Amino acid sequence: MMKKFSSAITILLLLISGCYYDKYDKLYPPATNANCDSVNVTYAVTVRAILDNYCMSCHDATTASGGAVFDSHSNILPWAQSGQLMGDVKQLSGFVQMPPGSKLSDCDIAKLQKWVNDGAPDN
Ligand code: HEC
Repeated sequence: MMKKFSSAITILLLLISGCYYDKYDKLYPPATNANCDSVNVTYAVTVRAILDNYCMSCHDATTASGGAVFDSHSNILPWAQSGQLMGDVKQLSGFVQMPPGSKLSDCDIAKLQKWVNDGAPDN
């Protein structure tokens, strides 16, 4: 009697946990995907915000580190087209690491990559 009862409990628990994990994946997808919109990307809103937060202290017209000025679309375009912008922020070998001593989040890198893949438009 006791044995039957506990195996019934075991089966019940397995069923419950099975359902729980099914839904868990759908309800809570990996955080980076859930919180990262790397599809709706524009120069004016998305790219500018990243540059202003992480790059402009060294890349405005006055500082112009390494000769790279990111104060306008036309000034950053050549860096985007040459591949140096993405090589630097992805910190690929053979590139300068930007920002120096830290790294953008995967989400911000994905947003910049989307913009570059779109042809780095002035949108
Ligand atoms: C703390 C200052 C600082 C910050 C912040 C910074 N940079 Fe730089 N950046 C530099 C310096 C210094 C150089 C020149 C280094 C060199 O060429 O060796 C440089 C050079 C560059 C270059 C041109 C060099 C090349 O050959 O590719 C690019 C492109 C660049 N940075 C992109 C960025 C981006 C994008 C960000 C923000 C995500 C950023 N940087 C943030 C200091 C900074």
